[in-house]
Amino acid sequence: MKKVASIDKELEHVEFLDLFDLEMIQKLQDSFSSATGVASIITKPDGTPITKPSNFCRLCKDIIRKTEIGLKNCYYSDSIIGRQNTSGPIFQNCLSGGLLDGGASISVGNKQIANWLIGQVKSEDTDDDEIMLYADEIGADKDEFKTALKEVNTMSAHQFENIADSLFIFANQLSEKAYDNLQLQMNKNKLELLVQEKTVDLEAAIEQLRATNEDLSFKNNIIHEQNSKLKKALKRLKETQKQLIQSEKMASLGVLTSGIAHEINNPLNFLQGAYIGLENYFEEYGSQDQNTTQLLLESIKTGVERASKIVKGLNQFSRESSTLDEECNVHLILDNCLIMLYNQLRYNIVVLKDYCNENLFVKGNVGKLHQVFVNILSNAVYSIKDEGEIHIITKKEKGNIIIEIIDNGMGISPQNISHVTEPFFTTKPPGDGTGLGLSISYSIIKEHHGIIEFESVIDKGTKVMIMLPEQES
Ligand SMILES: Nc1ncnc2c1ncn2[C@@H]1O[C@H](COP(=O)(O)OP(=O)(O)OP(=O)(O)O)[C@@H](O)[C@H]1O
Ligand SMILES: [Mg+2]
Repeated sequence: MKKVASIDKELEHVEFLDLFDLEMIQKLQDSFSSATGVASIITKPDGTPITKPSNFCRLCKDIIRKTEIGLKNCYYSDSIIGRQNTSGPIFQNCLSGGLLDGGASISVGNKQIANWLIGQVKSEDTDDDEIMLYADEIGADKDEFKTALKEVNTMSAHQFENIADSLFIFANQLSEKAYDNLQLQMNKNKLELLVQEKTVDLEAAIEQLRATNEDLSFKNNIIHEQNSKLKKALKRLKETQKQLIQSEKMASLGVLTSGIAHEINNPLNFLQGAYIGLENYFEEYGSQDQNTTQLLLESIKTGVERASKIVKGLNQFSRESSTLDEECNVHLILDNCLIMLYNQLRYNIVVLKDYCNENLFVKGNVGKLHQVFVNILSNAVYSIKDEGEIHIITKKEKGNIIIEIIDNGMGISPQNISHVTEPFFTTKPPGDGTGLGLSISYSIIKEHHGIIEFESVIDKGTKVMIMLPEQES
């Protein structure tokens, strides 16, 4: 990277044209010459011209400077007359042609960078004959030299001195400007350097930021991935937990029901046997009151049959199977469920069965479908506080079996209806319900490729509609 040098270092290399605009300086020099009537040129310290000559006389321009020796002498004279002098202008006869010349140096700090030279005039003291000797010395055409010498501007030495004084002031001003310009240039360089340094710093900071950002977004991605894995795991966990609760519930219910069924089955067999025995006995030996005996026998028969039905229903409910290809008789399942809920239904609820007049079969899991209808019917029973009605409709529609269970209970509020199938959603008091009934029913119906829908009006009642694909025969 570039470095800003000290002013002394800068001074070592600086040149006049580094600090001034040539065009502007040329204009200044031209106008000075035309205002004062003297010739003028600005040269390097060694006499080499920087500007174009202004107002040069023919003698100097076209004759003396056109000869090799003349030109060399001119440069030499310019370097001497323009030498550094801080106390005032230098004026003396030109060391080449001998005309009156003057000069002032232009410096920056202590370093001279240019000479501003004026002259090419004759004064009252100028000796033309002496100057003519110079034509020979440099090998110029004498006649031409003489004619040109005559054309040279004449002014008093005093006037020329005044012009040289004002030149000195001008040159000093230019020196000061040169110094200011150098400092400006150095400040500009310093600023550029500072900007460069800051840019490098900034680029490094941006690079670091980009790297940090990349790192962050990489970590973010990892967190995101882990988060979604965690979410999935949590979902799986919830589902497993749900299934676990349900299978626990089912298992204990199954144990209970099959135990009860077994226990009841034995005495039922006794009863059945005793009933047949009694029937045979009365057939063989007769009775005193045939009618009453018949009535009593009939009622024993009805009781035994009803108890057998209940036992059969309980066995169906607790069947342990996970297959989905059993033939499920919808009406039979519904009736079993009603038998199981008989105790809850019989006092205050009328059950209206509006079954399709043919048997309806779906392919699935008998035990699980029992579970669905027991859940829905229990909810309907729970919703009826005093007296009410549960209407069960079954029908066949375009290859589907439709079961509607309608109650005229308390209904479900619009804000709750969309949540009823969510696991653990319940409006029952703590301890009364798990809130799993409908979420499990929903999963079972989905498993059976069916749909379950709810319609409800608060204080009017609820309709649960289940649609299942009919079993292909
Ligand atoms: N027929 C209905 N009438 C009124 N509300 C109902 C009916 N069916 C369901 N709900 C509402 O849906 C909620 C969820 O029912 P779900 O069967 O899933 O759980 P639960 O009945 O509260 O508890 P559980 O079934 O474990 O006893 C009920 O708490 C109730 O608010
Ligand atoms: Mg329920």
